Amino acid sequence: MPTDTMRAIRLHEHGGPEVLRQEEVPIPVPGPGEVLVRVHAAGVNPPDRYLRDGMSNLPPETRPKFSLPVIPGTDMSGVVEAVAPDVDGFAVGDEVFGLLRFPGFEGAGYAEYVAARASDLAHKPAGIDHVHAAGAPMAGLTAWQFLIELGHDHPSPFQAARHRPVPLGPGTTVLVNGAAGGVGHFAVQLAKWKGAQVVAVASGGHERFLRDLGADEFIDYTTSRPEELVHGADLVLDAVGGPRSSRFLRTLKRGGSLFPVFFGEFDEEETAKLGVTVTGTQVRSNGAQLAELGRLLGTGAVRVAIDSTFPLADARAAHERAAEGHIQGKIVLTAA
Ligand SMILES: NC(=O)c1ccc[n+]([C@@H]2O[C@H](COP(=O)([O-])OP(=O)(O)OC[C@H]3O[C@@H](n4cnc5c(N)ncnc54)[C@H](OP(=O)(O)O)[C@@H]3O)[C@@H](O)[C@H]2O)c1
Repeated sequence: MPTDTMRAIRLHEHGGPEVLRQEEVPIPVPGPGEVLVRVHAAGVNPPDRYLRDGMSNLPPETRPKFSLPVIPGTDMSGVVEAVAPDVDGFAVGDEVFGLLRFPGFEGAGYAEYVAARASDLAHKPAGIDHVHAAGAPMAGLTAWQFLIELGHDHPSPFQAARHRPVPLGPGTTVLVNGAAGGVGHFAVQLAKWKGAQVVAVASGGHERFLRDLGADEFIDYTTSRPEELVHGADLVLDAVGGPRSSRFLRTLKRGGSLFPVFFGEFDEEETAKLGVTVTGTQVRSNGAQLAELGRLLGTGAVRVAIDSTFPLADARAAHERAAEGHIQGKIVLTAA
C-alpha cells in the first residue's frame, strides 16, 4: 500500500531543465471516473518542454497562464492501485497506459502516482514493457488521429478547416518529415500498416532505423532538399511543421494533402492554385483509440523505439537530452 506522499517532479517557475525539481508531495486521490495508477514509466513529449519554459514558442499575448507549482507530463504506463466506484473496465492490478488530460497541462505524469481519468486509459499490451508503453500515448495518438481516425469533433485551435484523415493503401505515397522522432516514427509505421509507400525524411543517422521500420525511401534533409526530389505524393505528414512546412506543398499531386503537426502559415492562394488541402488537429486523450493502437503494439505490427531512458529524479537530464535534438523514437522516465 502507498504511504500518503510520493516523489514527483514539480515546476515552481518557468525556465530551462534546471527548474525541474524532485519533491515529496501528497499522493493524489482519484475522483469520480478516475483510477489511481502507480506509475512505472512516463514519456517525455514536446508539450512538457513548452510548459516548463512557459510557452516561449508562442507570442506573449497568446501564452496561457499556469498556476504553479505544477507536475508536468502527460504520458505514462503503470499499474492500477485503486479504482473509483463508478469506473468499469479497470481493476486493481491492471497494467494500463495513457495520454492524460490532453489538451491541458494537468496530466501530472512525472510522478510515482497519478489520478487518471479512466477514459484516457487503455490496458497495456502484454507483449511490451512499461518503458515502451509510456513512449506510445501522445506520439502514437497524434499519428493515429492525423492518419487513421480523428475520433473527435473539436476544432483545431490553430486552423479553421476540419481535419480529415485521407484513405491510405497500396498505390498511395506518403512523405513523413521528421520521420525519426516520436510522432514521425509512428506515422511511418501506420502508413506502412495501411499499405502505403513511405518516403521518410530525417537526418542521415536515422536511415537504418527508418528502413527497419519499413520506409521505402529515405531522404537525408542535411544533404538533399526533399521538396525538389519528391513529386506526386498523395500526403505529406510534416512532424516538424512550422514556418518551413509550405515548401512541401509542391511535392503533392493535385488533390493531395499536407498535414502539418506543428502549426504554420500557408498561403490560401497557393494551395488553391496547386489544388491541395492543408489541415491539422490537436491530439486529444482517447483510451479507446489507444486500445486499438495497443493491439498493433501487442502484435509487433507497430513498435515503440526508445531513444533513451532516465530515472524520474533525473528529469532534468531527460529534458537536456531533448534539447539536443535528433531524437530517435521516445525519451522515457522510469519511476518504479
Ligand atoms: N498537433 C498535435 O497535437 C501535436 C502532437 C504531438 C506533437 N506535436 C508537435 O509535433 C512536433 C514533433 O513532435 P515529436 O514528439 O515527434 O518530436 P521529437 O520526438 O522531438 O522529434 C522531432 C524529430 O524531428 C527531426 N527533425 C528536426 N529538425 C528537422 C528538419 N528540419 N527536417 C526533418 N526532420 C527534423 C528530429 O531528428 P533529425 O533532425 O535528426 O531528423 C527528430 O527526430 C513538435 O513540434 C510537437 O510540438 C503536435
